[in-house]
Amino acid sequence: MFSAASLALFTLTLAMGVSAQASETGTAPSNGTAPGAAQVITSCTVNNTVALAFDDGPSQYLQHISDILVAKNATGTFFVNGLNYDCIYDPEPAAWVKYAYDAGHQIGSHTWHHLHLIKLNETAVTAEFSRTALAIQQITGAFPAFTRPPYGEYNQLVQQVAQAQGQTLVTWDFDSADSIGDSAKQSQALYAAQVLKHPVNMLTLNHDVYKSTAYKLLPYAINKLQDAGYKLVTVAECLGRTPYWSVGNPAVRNNATWVCTK
Ligand SMILES: *[C@@H]1O[C@H](CO)[C@@H](O)[C@H](O)[C@H]1NC(C)=O
Ligand SMILES: *[C@@H]1O[C@H](CO)[C@@H](O)[C@H](O)[C@H]1NC(C)=O
Ligand SMILES: *[C@@H]1O[C@H](CO)[C@@H](O)[C@H](O)[C@H]1NC(C)=O
Ligand SMILES: *[C@@H]1O[C@H](CO)[C@@H](O)[C@H](O)[C@H]1NC(C)=O
Ligand SMILES: [Zn+2]
Repeated sequence: MFSAASLALFTLTLAMGVSAQASETGTAPSNGTAPGAAQVITSCTVNNTVALAFDDGPSQYLQHISDILVAKNATGTFFVNGLNYDCIYDPEPAAWVKYAYDAGHQIGSHTWHHLHLIKLNETAVTAEFSRTALAIQQITGAFPAFTRPPYGEYNQLVQQVAQAQGQTLVTWDFDSADSIGDSAKQSQALYAAQVLKHPVNMLTLNHDVYKSTAYKLLPYAINKLQDAGYKLVTVAECLGRTPYWSVGNPAVRNNATWVCTK
């Protein structure tokens, strides 16, 4: 839980971060962003980068994905849930998240239960954001700045809550379709076709919860993209931004609070 002091510090950090971000990019939030509503990122901004992002974990394949990326001098992004396939606080999933963080990949939030946020009220949306960011901070020591909303779904309320929780929303401009029953071969073909179009950058959607993504799709995609001259970076890096509001020491495991039950 946030103490009053840490919440005040976070709010202060947030205020400082927003101004730093504005001067860093020299641009206002994308047009159409209402006051008090979080920005929604749909594409990278840095030329020649590809952000390989993996949703729905942490999963048993996360460490393998991390290892493959590191072996290719690449980094990626894991948008993790609190309670989806696994409970993020359980010893193994927590260790997977820390493993990826320590390897230099970005950890972002994919919210707690992987619900359709646009169907929830403010209290529920707030909990979906806050529980996940807190878990990431407890496990890694870093407070995330980016959330990918499940199904890429958001509305005005979701944007307002995201802003209040210090989260920039991120969707994607390339879907490998690994979650909709496509075989690795079909997803590979989608990467190949996209590379042939020579986009200046790519912000991708993949899922670390599938063995075929980890073992078949990823090695292929990395080679294809690197052969085409793309640099494989985190989502934050492909935007020229920082991935976290703050970076510190992880918390010590606490059996009373590191739980996914209500
Ligand atoms: C990025 O790529 C676009 C399209 O090719 C080009 O117009 C632009 O000048 C490039 N920006 C930089 C900073 O290289
Ligand atoms: C690895 O990536 C870094 C950062 O992108 C780059 O500076 C370095 O030259 C790369 N090393 C190799 C062996 O490709
Ligand atoms: C918000 O939604 C939750 C879950 O459906 C419900 O339990 C709660 O009563 C709702 N709160 C308000 C203020 O409507
Ligand atoms: C927390 O739970 C684990 C597994 O049940 C146990 O091994 C460990 O001793 C517990 N730690 C504390 C501080 O109670
Ligand atoms: Zn998802």
